[in-house]
Amino acid sequence: MGMASAGCIGKEATFIERLDIHPRIIESAKRNGYTSAWSIINSSPEDIEQRSGLTAAETTHLISCVVNATIKKPCTAWQMFQCPDVVPGPYPCISFGCQSLNKILQGGLPIRSVTEIYGPSGSGKTQVALQLAIQVQLPVNAGGLGKGTAYICTESQFPARRLRQMADHCRVHHPFAQCSPNSSSRSLDKWTNNIHVQHIANMEDLLNCIQKQLPMLMQHREVGLVVIDSVAAVFRVEDAQSQSRSQSLTALGYALHQLAMTKNLAVLALNQVTSARGHDVLHGSFDDFVPALGLAWSNLITTRLALSRKYPQSQQCVIPVRNLEVHFSPWLPRASANFIITEEGLKDMMNPN
Ligand code: GTP
Ligand code: MG
Repeated sequence: MGMASAGCIGKEATFIERLDIHPRIIESAKRNGYTSAWSIINSSPEDIEQRSGLTAAETTHLISCVVNATIKKPCTAWQMFQCPDVVPGPYPCISFGCQSLNKILQGGLPIRSVTEIYGPSGSGKTQVALQLAIQVQLPVNAGGLGKGTAYICTESQFPARRLRQMADHCRVHHPFAQCSPNSSSRSLDKWTNNIHVQHIANMEDLLNCIQKQLPMLMQHREVGLVVIDSVAAVFRVEDAQSQSRSQSLTALGYALHQLAMTKNLAVLALNQVTSARGHDVLHGSFDDFVPALGLAWSNLITTRLALSRKYPQSQQCVIPVRNLEVHFSPWLPRASANFIITEEGLKDMMNPN
């Protein structure tokens, strides 16, 4: 079979011509707009059959060829040795626009994974998410993905005025906007029209949004970051021990990973804290606050980051110092970094000590 680019769902309009199937099937599909793998995988077999006039057997054959051509094939160690190109390279990530944070995250917020930031109220979780929602729009060579953000608010109104303040700073002062010959890079709507906001109040709507609404939005808008602010707010306290809560959490975690992997985007889930009750027999005492949603949720995220607000050590320092710490991650060492929040957004400290 003629191979489409291995591992990615081909969006190219010539994809279908490279399939090793009867030319008549290819022609019928092409004539009716089924040119990319994406257009075929996204349609039901009945639709394809009706629109293109293919028989049920031909349609099944077409779909299975498309799926085979897009599934990532495993390679052997010998192939890796012969041709290093078959080894997937590092994926791009979204710069925080703050060197100390990029350093502990080894470049920024990773795509194709689910990252949680938890911390007490006022620690700065929403500020971090807003900054990333702006940063992701920068081109790849400036630390972004050149894409937009889907921002899901579950607890309070989207902080539109604060976003505007941060975006205003970016469009005026960011070297990319300053150097860009295109004047739209300096206009506010360019930076805010790419942030799609959805307010959601319960778990059912959240799942529906992630499984259905976001994939539909992504058919015509490029999205590189999905933020949930916050994930704990959709779970009611009285559901804490219920089985349906852990089922919903599992479904949510699965849907978020699916989205991150199939759309090559970063998922950022903000989480609240809850007070730690009981006693840890292994470690003696532990922090007063732990991330909300318990072990079921902890097992569903890839990376956990803890955000805290430290009070200034000296009277000269009036701005609170924030600290972001890597709690766990498959590839990052445990590390932490200090930063501050100003009107412009997240900033490195002049003197990190
Ligand atoms: P919850 O949503 O309540 O859980 O809190 P959060 O962790 O999301 O906190 P949020 O991101 O809303 O951070 C609020 C803090 O950010 C404020 O207490 C301020 O210290 C800081 N902040 C927000 N806007 C500004 C600003 O314009 N200038 C400065 N200097 N700080 C700001
Ligand atoms: Mg918040």
